Amino acid sequence: MLAVEYIGTQIPARLPWYRRMQETAWAIIAEGFSACVVRPGQTTAADVEWWMREQIQSLNYTTWFHPSVTIIKADTPWGAAAADGGDAAFADSPADEVIQYGDLLHVDFGVSALGMNTDTQHLAYVLYPGQTSHDDVPQGFRDGLRKGNRLQDMTRKHMIPGNTGNEILTNIRREMKKEGLKGKIYCHAIGDWGHSAGTVIGMTNLQDQVPILGDLPLLANTWYSVELRADHFVPEFNATFSFPLEEDVYWSPEGGFEWVYGRQERFHLIHTPSKDEVSQEL
Ligand SMILES: *[C@@H]1O[C@H](CO)[C@@H](O)[C@H](O)[C@H]1NC(C)=O
Ligand SMILES: *[C@@H]1O[C@H](CO)[C@@H](O)[C@H](O)[C@H]1NC(C)=O
Repeated sequence: MLAVEYIGTQIPARLPWYRRMQETAWAIIAEGFSACVVRPGQTTAADVEWWMREQIQSLNYTTWFHPSVTIIKADTPWGAAAADGGDAAFADSPADEVIQYGDLLHVDFGVSALGMNTDTQHLAYVLYPGQTSHDDVPQGFRDGLRKGNRLQDMTRKHMIPGNTGNEILTNIRREMKKEGLKGKIYCHAIGDWGHSAGTVIGMTNLQDQVPILGDLPLLANTWYSVELRADHFVPEFNATFSFPLEEDVYWSPEGGFEWVYGRQERFHLIHTPSKDEVSQEL
């Protein structure tokens, strides 16, 4: 454990810088998932990925993995990357698949700077022309995001230092069962590496226990990526969708593991002007 503790421990002086990096990552996601970048009917998921990559480059940041943008459909194959037990990503959308009105979008995005790494997953919704607000997002999608937030709360609550990753996973899954929540938990240490030293709390393909790594105790004074997905039946589409979310947390002696910057509770909205608005602007 000496080596794990040495790599995993984060000193308080790093936190303000880490928070700024999170802010930058959120800002790039927010602009990438906006009408500034996405033109429904023209822009592909790959276009958004490369736009984000160029932002990283232009800010003199780097990254530890290429941005991954997916158009989530009810039948989007999940966990193509799960076979290696690694990061949970959707199978990439076909490179030429164009973003349309009413699409649910997902991004897995991280930046690297100053010897630190971030890892964030957010969701966006493409409004139809003339729609303006979060209330225009189908209720089923909003409920799915809320379930993801509930899973995040449960996960943070059970992340008690001294317990092993497997014990924490068991406690989360017991509570999920009690509430009838479906989904998966796969949290990992983050900081000096994108996947840093420390116990893991589940993997995409291991939801009962993770051999060896899951038997290590969770350490205080470390940073973690709370990475998970909620599965929710969306009546509007008569189908079950996955709502994957990821945010980074730091250890606070007062409050336990807290969000470094925040967590997503509302969809990023791609607001495209109606034809009337366009002609008014002209
Ligand atoms: C990035 O680095 C280059 C070369 O050092 C510098 O000229 C430029 O101003 C930097 N850009 C930003 C956004 O800091
Ligand atoms: C909803 O999906 C189920 C299962 O795929 C199907 O049997 C059912 O007919 C669908 N209902 C509607 C209203 O399309």
